[in-house]
Amino acid sequence: MSVHYDIKDIGLAPSGEQKIAWVRDHMPLLRGLEERYADLPRERKPFDGVKISLSIHMEAKTAYLCRVLTWAGAAVSAMGCNVLSTQDDVAAALAAGRTKGQDAKDHGGRAAPGIGVFAIRGESEASYSRHVEMCLAHRPDIVIDDGGDLVGMLHTKRPDLAEEVRGGCEETTTGVIRLKAMEAAGLLKFPMVAVNDARCKHLFDNRYGTGQSVWDSILRNTNLIVASKTVVVAGYGWCGRGIAMRAAALGASVIVTEIDAVKAMEARMDGFAVTTMSGAAPFGDIFISATGCKDVITLEHMALMRDGAILGNAGHFNVEVDVRSLAARAAERYQAKPNIETFVLPGGKRINILAEGRLLNIAAADGHPAEIMDMSFAVQFYSALYVKEHYAELGRGVADVSKEIDDIVSQARLAAWGIEIDALTPEQQTYLNSWEL
Ligand code: NAI
Repeated sequence: MSVHYDIKDIGLAPSGEQKIAWVRDHMPLLRGLEERYADLPRERKPFDGVKISLSIHMEAKTAYLCRVLTWAGAAVSAMGCNVLSTQDDVAAALAAGRTKGQDAKDHGGRAAPGIGVFAIRGESEASYSRHVEMCLAHRPDIVIDDGGDLVGMLHTKRPDLAEEVRGGCEETTTGVIRLKAMEAAGLLKFPMVAVNDARCKHLFDNRYGTGQSVWDSILRNTNLIVASKTVVVAGYGWCGRGIAMRAAALGASVIVTEIDAVKAMEARMDGFAVTTMSGAAPFGDIFISATGCKDVITLEHMALMRDGAILGNAGHFNVEVDVRSLAARAAERYQAKPNIETFVLPGGKRINILAEGRLLNIAAADGHPAEIMDMSFAVQFYSALYVKEHYAELGRGVADVSKEIDDIVSQARLAAWGIEIDALTPEQQTYLNSWEL
């Protein structure tokens, strides 16, 4: 059977295959799932007969998740969830699949079928929308979404297909917020598990993953020193905390902006200056937004900034930094470096925008470290399995990831590190559950 895909160039597959092999070596939880399921007879595979469509940042770690789902029996289709995060060589490797014995040192020589892949780096909005439709033509039983585009399309343009979906999982904060809004409006047509809210996800992925990969992106793209600079972080949620923490570790002075008084207080007690964006604008050398909100850094703020300020966004959508108004106002714009565009305002002030204001750690770097995504994707895998087994009881709402899944994933991660922890004795359990002295 020929595989349907729409990618840049299938000839790029060998480079993508190399990238997948590298992350596989550093994702022990997913590799454990591969080893547990790949060689079982078809009828014993947990996702046998289940069609899964994924909207993902199309790069090596997500590609490996797709492979693991396939080895666990699922029929998979996948699309990119951001036009700048797609890596065309990885899309090609996924679409091409691999034959048994190909580079026996990788994947243990294991064969992987090619899957339907619909993603091209830098594609137009029209092409992106077409790819959502093509990915959903798979008629999924389960959707795995990142930011809500698959679920959005199912509820707007393809309600016929939504009727067939048993449920799904959402990866990120912004997607979960949208799902909760749909649930509150009584519109959600199937259950969605909020993978983002699992402890093994947001405590590590949003904080340590974003914290490291945002700086990885800024360092590799700017090649500038962070020590001695003032960094402004908008939003002190899980991502913002990680970004601020790592900025401080690199030697920056950090200013946090918030709209939530408790978070602002937390930032202050963590040792950071806190003020409004207008208050911070004149002092910052580097600005990073991580709020999930829109218009966080506006043209008015940019007018207050120093010449040469560097602005980037780590939130899911490219609405946090108002690049559109900046572009409309600029007298001149030019590509200063790959992934850095300089806008010259009337009067000569230069504002540098990283990665077009799209989430910079994925659009202009390789995203989170493999070990971090290993945990997030293990949560995805078990949550998808949970949907497959429990969708009928879940109802049409947003469901939490069960404590059991967090326990399985955290224990597997500790085991991979070779770390043991204590267990409560029966006496301790009784003590912790009693109210009498
Ligand atoms: P969160 O809900 O923990 O934190 C967001 C924070 O921003 C909150 O403290 C909120 O009070 C604050 N905030 C909201 N509007 C604001 C405004 N106008 N000005 C200042 N502060 C504001 O969310 P989390 O998990 O930190 O995620 C933030 C964004 O990053 C979301 O869009 C999420 O989808 C995305 N994300 C990006 C990742 C990446 O790899 N770049 C990884 C994980 C999440």
